[in-house]
Amino acid sequence: MRERDDILTRSGRFALVDAGGPGEHAAFARDVRAGLLAHPKRLPCWYFYDSEGSRLFEAICELPEYYLTRAEQAILEERSGELASLFRGPITLVELGSGSARKTRVLIEALLRRHGTARYMPVDICRPALLDSARALLTDYPALEIRAVAGEYSDGLRHVAEEADRPRLILWLGSSIGNLDRPEAAEFLRRVREAVSAHDRLLLGIDLRKDRAVLEAAYDDAQGITARFNRNLLVRINRELGGRFDPGRFLHRAVYNAEVGRIEMYLVSEGSQRVRIEALDLAIAFAPGEAIHTENSYKYSPAEIDALASEAGLRLEQRWVDAAGRFSVNLCAPASR
Ligand code: TRP
Repeated sequence: MRERDDILTRSGRFALVDAGGPGEHAAFARDVRAGLLAHPKRLPCWYFYDSEGSRLFEAICELPEYYLTRAEQAILEERSGELASLFRGPITLVELGSGSARKTRVLIEALLRRHGTARYMPVDICRPALLDSARALLTDYPALEIRAVAGEYSDGLRHVAEEADRPRLILWLGSSIGNLDRPEAAEFLRRVREAVSAHDRLLLGIDLRKDRAVLEAAYDDAQGITARFNRNLLVRINRELGGRFDPGRFLHRAVYNAEVGRIEMYLVSEGSQRVRIEALDLAIAFAPGEAIHTENSYKYSPAEIDALASEAGLRLEQRWVDAAGRFSVNLCAPASR
């Protein structure tokens, strides 16, 4: 597409902050080396989201077994008018890990209906996904202004401070909070709390503790899309670091650890193998059945969400749960100090 035809440049309603950039490749190399030399082996989950990973995750959200997205969407549809009416004038809607921003549309529409205009600050580690979603939103909503941040959550938080001229609603949806350990989640929420003011709000989508069978199916679907998503991490290492992984020789495994209340995701080596990674000048040995731990997805009870909020200096104003009682959306305000 030629520059001047691109709505991103043509509209005058779009700005991009590129927080990632040059250091990204070095960070990936460093983290892959450290993770594969560790015992047990592990890889950091945010590297799932390259272009293909973001695309596969969108497909996960449509899977019959992956109830999370639909449950959250239903709650947002029901509550978007109420959420918009919490604010008297135009706001900045910040979204941590915005992806395709499909679920966010209902909120954007409610804000535009209520206030005429709105500013959207999507934060995502996947630059192509960020630009694609921005194009679609600018096309569909002529009164919407977008300031996108390509980078990590912490990059996003830095830019939240620049939006102090308006009330802010911070979205952290999809139970992404579950991908942090419980203490890390509380610590990160405390940082969010420190970045906002008394009239700002935080909306947290958090998956609830439930039956093992429902959870394990959600993370190991019949079509094998989640397995492909997990293995895509190996494909990315092959492409970006000259890895020699045969992704077909690693099995996707998702197990619910009920005691700690988390789904654990692994890639399990079929047989014994040695895998070279050229850019790291490294050969990694795998014993038969040896696993790489790629992700955790923590589940919360309502009481655990209450404790999390208060630990982070937040006051829980509302909790909405879907009809099946599977998923929660939590509206939080800064607790008075
Ligand atoms: N935030 C999502 C979740 O925890 C991420 C996710 C969904 C995921 N399915 C996955 C991560 C499979 C790794 C593998 O629900």
